Amino acid sequence: MKILITGCAGFLGFSLARRLLGSGEEVVGVDNLNTYYSVALKEARVRLLAEVPSFRFARLDLRHPKPIEDLLARERPEAIVHFAAQAGVRYSLREPAAYVEDNVLGTVHLLEAARRASPPPHLLYASSSSVYGLNASLPFSVRGPVAHPASVYAATKRATELLAHSYSHLYRLPTTGLRFFTVYGPWGRPDMAYFSFTRAILRGEPIEVYGKGELRRDFTYVDDVIEAVARLIPRAAAADPGWDPAHPDPSRSSAPYRIFNIGNRTPLSVHELVESIERAAGRRAILRFSPTPPGDVNATAADTTELEEEVGFAPSTPLAVGIERFVSWYREVAVNLPEL
Ligand SMILES: NC(=O)c1ccc[n+]([C@@H]2O[C@H](COP(=O)([O-])OP(=O)(O)OC[C@H]3O[C@@H](n4cnc5c(N)ncnc54)[C@H](O)[C@@H]3O)[C@@H](O)[C@H]2O)c1
Repeated sequence: MKILITGCAGFLGFSLARRLLGSGEEVVGVDNLNTYYSVALKEARVRLLAEVPSFRFARLDLRHPKPIEDLLARERPEAIVHFAAQAGVRYSLREPAAYVEDNVLGTVHLLEAARRASPPPHLLYASSSSVYGLNASLPFSVRGPVAHPASVYAATKRATELLAHSYSHLYRLPTTGLRFFTVYGPWGRPDMAYFSFTRAILRGEPIEVYGKGELRRDFTYVDDVIEAVARLIPRAAAADPGWDPAHPDPSRSSAPYRIFNIGNRTPLSVHELVESIERAAGRRAILRFSPTPPGDVNATAADTTELEEEVGFAPSTPLAVGIERFVSWYREVAVNLPEL
């Protein structure tokens, strides 16, 4: 297959591209290499991908409609995996407009280009567990309520899902939404706690823990996420003929639209995360506690029933195993990258 991945210089876009190239697919990668975190890390990821001849990279910005429209008309991919976004809950308190521009406007431009493509590609896109917001009924089900976002980031991710549904309905564009739950692993994101904690613990510096470290997250290992996405790519979302508009199931539709949770089904506390890093690093953390910032929710946990039904797989790598792999990667690779 020919697959176009947006955000291919990012953590998940890179990880997916590497996996697809390894299994012989052709990948066109798109990214604007923005400066939200280390550009050196993003460039290192793209360099690795560029070693494979069936990879091509287009540096472009989805905030502008023309470049992505031209690229799609030229490349005509069978599937698009849309991972480009302004990620991160806390930064959305400081720069809310950046989230609307990258996540909402950027997605509209991609959807417009995709719906004009012929034949229409299967469009898969990253959403987030954060769309569950104030919903505290764990584990989160894709059939459950998502009307109360707790951050601008979450609101823009929910907006992405709503826009996707409009395009599935209006233009029969098959769209599949992927609600990721706190993904971690090698080549990961420096702004996330597991990454900054590892860096600080290895350097003997203190780490900042919110609340008393009791926030719980469904930490999900990157290879499991990529496995689930790779299995979903060839399964274009189909309209559900039995969908009942009088009792609408929010995870499917009379349009070719599906939503899946991709999470580990095992919420663990930030304390347990710190313990895993301490064990893998062979060093104790120096803890500094600070209040939980607004926007962060208390706990996340995925109900992956629909994912298992669709692709016969759900993430399950234990946190200790995944963190050990991350810390090994950090010691071998990250320490040699500038700016990290
Ligand atoms: N990593 C997680 O734990 C997690 C959890 C839930 C959801 N997600 C979502 O998954 C997707 C991938 O996340 P990630 O962790 O790989 O993030 P990332 O920040 O590493 O990757 C996103 C990439 O998109 C690029 N980008 C941003 N705006 C762009 C634009 N306007 N045009 C072109 N490229 C642009 C960035 O340069 C970056 O390389 C995002 O949509 C994110 O919101 C991630």
